[in-house]
Amino acid sequence: MNLIVIVDQNWGIGKDGDQLVYLKPDLKRFQQLTTGHTIILGRKTLATFPGGKPLKLRHNLILSTQKDFQVDGGEVVHTIEELLKVAPEDSFVIGGASVYHQLLPYCHRAYVTKVEKTYPADCSFHNLDADPAWQIEEEEGPFCYEGLGYSYVTYRNHK
Ligand SMILES: NC(=O)c1ccc[n+]([C@@H]2O[C@H](COP(=O)([O-])OP(=O)(O)OC[C@H]3O[C@@H](n4cnc5c(N)ncnc54)[C@H](OP(=O)(O)O)[C@@H]3O)[C@@H](O)[C@H]2O)c1
Repeated sequence: MNLIVIVDQNWGIGKDGDQLVYLKPDLKRFQQLTTGHTIILGRKTLATFPGGKPLKLRHNLILSTQKDFQVDGGEVVHTIEELLKVAPEDSFVIGGASVYHQLLPYCHRAYVTKVEKTYPADCSFHNLDADPAWQIEEEEGPFCYEGLGYSYVTYRNHK
């Protein structure tokens, strides 16, 4: 399993139910990496998508405890155990905070976009730089988009 996330300098990822920052080139990369694959997300992250709809050209696996929750164009699973039974190895965990936290131990690779800025945040991602199990495999950048510096850092879980 893989994961993909955009973080600020404090590994912050969201505030008031939304992402901290949207970067056009990062969104394009997200599309390229995840298209054709299964994506795994929490019910609250789905709600942040346009119209609350699943992303096209991907198999959307949505976690929710609500037994009657159904999503057109997506598959709802109700537990991590159920998810692990159906998620292919090449899946991408795409958030949010609670889903990243629960599935990080099952991920082998993390595609992290690091933005060179700090935002007010109410949720964050595990600091992979402070975890010896996670080692940097590849680093691209820094790049600059509309005055904002960012890099793509790929980590590998060696646990
Ligand atoms: N920076 C990034 O790359 C990035 C990416 C994605 C999201 N985010 C941010 O992350 C924040 C949202 O994170 P979040 O933790 O509040 O929400 P979330 O992880 O997107 O969704 C949480 C919901 O998922 C369901 N869920 C989670 N674990 C479950 C389990 N084990 N079994 C069954 N259902 C489960 C529950 O839905 P029910 O309540 O329906 O039971 C839970 O309320 C937002 O600010 C968002 O913008 C950031």
